[in-house]
Amino acid sequence: MLSMLRVSPAQALIKRANFASWSQRGLASVPSTMKAMVVSQVGPADALKLDSKHPVPAISDGQVLVKNEFAGINFIDTYHRSGLYKRDLPFICGQEGGGYIAQTTPKAEAQGFKVGDKVVYSILQTYCEYSAVPSAKLQPVPDNVGLDVATSCVVQGMTAHYLVSDAHAQLIKPGEWCLIHGVGGGTCQWAAQMAKLRGYKVIGTTSKSKEAVGRSTGCDELIVLDEVPGTSYEDYTSVDVVKRVLEITNGVGVKCVVDGIGKNTVDISIDSLARRGIFVSFGNASGAVPAFPVLRLINKSAYVTRPKLLDYTTDRQEMLYRSNEIFKWLGDGKLKVSVDKVYALDKAAEAHEYLEAGKSTGKVLLKI
Ligand SMILES: NC(=O)c1ccc[n+]([C@@H]2O[C@H](COP(=O)([O-])OP(=O)(O)OC[C@H]3O[C@@H](n4cnc5c(N)ncnc54)[C@H](OP(=O)(O)O)[C@@H]3O)[C@@H](O)[C@H]2O)c1
Repeated sequence: MLSMLRVSPAQALIKRANFASWSQRGLASVPSTMKAMVVSQVGPADALKLDSKHPVPAISDGQVLVKNEFAGINFIDTYHRSGLYKRDLPFICGQEGGGYIAQTTPKAEAQGFKVGDKVVYSILQTYCEYSAVPSAKLQPVPDNVGLDVATSCVVQGMTAHYLVSDAHAQLIKPGEWCLIHGVGGGTCQWAAQMAKLRGYKVIGTTSKSKEAVGRSTGCDELIVLDEVPGTSYEDYTSVDVVKRVLEITNGVGVKCVVDGIGKNTVDISIDSLARRGIFVSFGNASGAVPAFPVLRLINKSAYVTRPKLLDYTTDRQEMLYRSNEIFKWLGDGKLKVSVDKVYALDKAAEAHEYLEAGKSTGKVLLKI
């Protein structure tokens, strides 16, 4: 099955020969094969298998070849691996990477990219040593931001940015309350800090074991929940979150809820809203949000949105507006990213298990 992903050695040579006429820089140091973590059959974490002789992708004009230093692990990777979200088999897992440009092409060079540039990006196929990346997808990383931290920004950081900047359709104003679930976890640890930078008052929820991380986000109020016995997940029945939210907001509720937990929090989220507030349901860490009647929103004339990152990075300008602001906050020390764990590339299955167990208190990365 792996051979389906392979180009023949002859094809690879032809593509390399074409490339040689474009740019010689870095060419000599690029091997013909690489290590990659490949899924040939969907299933549990051990569906991720090491292919140590995977062909290095050939690049076409307008692309660059990135020598990856890090790949980020995201929940969506586990959905691809398990088959919840369908992909053609076999595939190299991952959709977040960071490294240095090893080869360029004329169109990429015309856009200002050169060999050695430090970049991060989001495309499919990143659990591997080299990725062919369209230059339009590249985010240049400033010198004062490390590649580990920058790679961590690509999905969770950019997601947090659009959640607190745009997904709420400006139905919340600075000085008003928002509720963010799971602020001890990945995306929402960022979202809480960014919501504060945007001037909102933030109520966070967190499990006891992630309380320290939750507090470090600077939430105005933190609701600390017990864990579901035998797990590290928040038990949303252990505290009456809606009651606490109404106490904190003097009975008004919050103008925006940011919810990546899904099934276990949907009722809390809707019931915590203020009049004409918005429920931003961006994820399903505890399971998919069940269908509910629209009439349910009438009580508060509430809004609901189910956004995704792709629709908030629609072009290069929008992508760079987000990444540049994030890198500026990081460089100025206004935003902190905790890299929780770094696994070797061939330990990607362990990294998936760790994420799926809900244990992460920050970004989980692969060191390539
Ligand atoms: N729409 C988008 O643009 C977008 C972008 C990125 C991610 N997402 C989605 O958002 C969700 C969260 O992603 P993330 O990257 O923030 O993940 P994460 O870093 O692992 O955080 C998820 C949090 O959910 C909490 N949680 C509660 N119940 C859980 C359960 N039953 N299983 C696992 N976790 C549980 C955990 O906190 P506690 O341990 O404190 O409970 C954990 O901190 C995922 O569904 C992901 O696919 C969507």
